[in-house]
Amino acid sequence: MHHLPLRGTRLAVHTRGSGLPLVLLHGFPLDHRMWAGQEPLADQLRLIVPDQRGFGASGGAVPESVAQLADDAVALLDGLHVTEPAVVCGLSMGGYVAQHVAARHPGRVRALILVDTKLESDTPEARAARRDLAGRVERLGQQIVAEAMIPNLLAQSAPARESPHRAAIEEGLRQAILATPVATIVAALAALGDRPDMVAPMRQVRMPVLLVVGEEDAITPPACLERALETFPNARLLVVPRCGHMMPLEDPGTFNAAVLDFLQAAGH
Ligand code: MLT
Repeated sequence: MHHLPLRGTRLAVHTRGSGLPLVLLHGFPLDHRMWAGQEPLADQLRLIVPDQRGFGASGGAVPESVAQLADDAVALLDGLHVTEPAVVCGLSMGGYVAQHVAARHPGRVRALILVDTKLESDTPEARAARRDLAGRVERLGQQIVAEAMIPNLLAQSAPARESPHRAAIEEGLRQAILATPVATIVAALAALGDRPDMVAPMRQVRMPVLLVVGEEDAITPPACLERALETFPNARLLVVPRCGHMMPLEDPGTFNAAVLDFLQAAGH
């Protein structure tokens, strides 16, 4: 891991492998560790896996907007001297950030991979729920987020619950959530609630797009990605059985194979 001074803060970033750069942007309120199952991709790609502003080892500043996190990701590429367009992949919140990278900095993105995420902005009810959660986190701490989110993050069908890795995955998620500062969680909830609708900007995206979703995703169900498939001019969709909102963590082998297959089909 190294720290890069950037845009008024310091971002922790893990890099591995060489070749085509692949940026992996984590979900809320997690950190780079959710991409541990993607390490084998470093045999063929240059993995760039940051802790985004305020998360993981990138503490100190809090996230102010999804657009800011997108500009951070591009500043990170600059800091790592990555000048060629990168493959940008994000899960959920990371997917919102990846969409903003594609909209704001299209020349820096060779291909886009959106996982367990959506293009639409929050409904008023979703925004109110975020405000409510932020208030409870301020009073009661991160534990409340772990309790509220973990049951929704993973697939709940019997085969998924009986997986030998299940307990370790839940514990990893709990640790990441409990390690995220309250100030980051509160600021990120506001930034997520304020994020703009990306349906119209994504209609203009010309790069190849891979959409991936767990069939049992309870937060951004397959219908979200099915709508996205209709929006992008050049996208394909993979719905993965026995997975929930953390698809790449729940079934890394299927995810990694899908990424390599997509990049090969896109001529990389
Ligand atoms: C995430 O998993 O990153 C969040 O659930 C995204 C969101 O709350 O919209």
